[in-house]
Amino acid sequence: MHIVEQQIFSGDVFKQVRTSSLLNGKALLASGGFSLTFEGSTPVSVYHLSIDNAGHDFSVKAKQHAIDGVAKIFRNYGAVAIYQHDPFYPDYLWLAEMEMLHPLSSSPAAYREIQDVLRSLTGSPEGLIYSTLTEKCKLLANLNRAPVYPRTMRSIQALRKLLFKYVTNTSCDIDLRLKNFMIRPCTGEVILNGPVNWLCDVTPDWHASLMASGVLIEDWVHPKFSAEILQFPTERCC
Ligand SMILES: Nc1ncnc2c1ncn2[C@@H]1O[C@H](COP(=O)(O)OP(=O)(O)O)[C@@H](O)[C@H]1O
Ligand SMILES: [Mg+2]
Repeated sequence: MHIVEQQIFSGDVFKQVRTSSLLNGKALLASGGFSLTFEGSTPVSVYHLSIDNAGHDFSVKAKQHAIDGVAKIFRNYGAVAIYQHDPFYPDYLWLAEMEMLHPLSSSPAAYREIQDVLRSLTGSPEGLIYSTLTEKCKLLANLNRAPVYPRTMRSIQALRKLLFKYVTNTSCDIDLRLKNFMIRPCTGEVILNGPVNWLCDVTPDWHASLMASGVLIEDWVHPKFSAEILQFPTERCC
């Protein structure tokens, strides 16, 4: 197992997920602060394993509301294992198969444009994390003032359409830093990838199932998700 994987995730539960039929043999492509990205089941998708459900949830909501400008989610496996057994705040491993995106740095022009957008929205070209309600409300008010570029437009529209719900219904941090913007290779557009942090919405029933089974990786789609989520791309095209 790659050393980077072990620095982020460790233990038997992670090993079981890593050696499950979906991830076994899949190369690690990248790692973040609390997630790993692996080769997907197709050349245009990746498996994303995280201890936070917020990014996957954001993509699911974008899909439900037909909002482009957000990383597409093809399969949402939800919480596949309990990572840390804490009676009050357990951590889970969340798995999803997402569209393969390219780093923002692969498009210097898009990089500059997003820096400009972030400078206008957050005061810093690197962007910011928003944790308090006051800060988040200020951000919401600023969203209409962001400069508009054809390449970045949809990602900012997605923020306008989706952030309000997170600010009013959750205590998620809003993570508007450069690293959460990526490039959709087939259009060159800037796409949001996980601009919210810290959501852990496991039902008691599902927790009990995970307690009983250890690891549960089902081709599971919650009834509230549209069947469209099951549609996979067959080629590199949007
Ligand atoms: N859909 C994707 N396609 C390709 N690479 C991705 C995708 N999602 C995340 N990555 C890569 O995986 C790494 C971790 O990303 P991310 O999940 O945003 O980390 P974090 O846990 O810090 O939020 C990053 O280097 C990012 O480039
Ligand atoms: Mg991220």
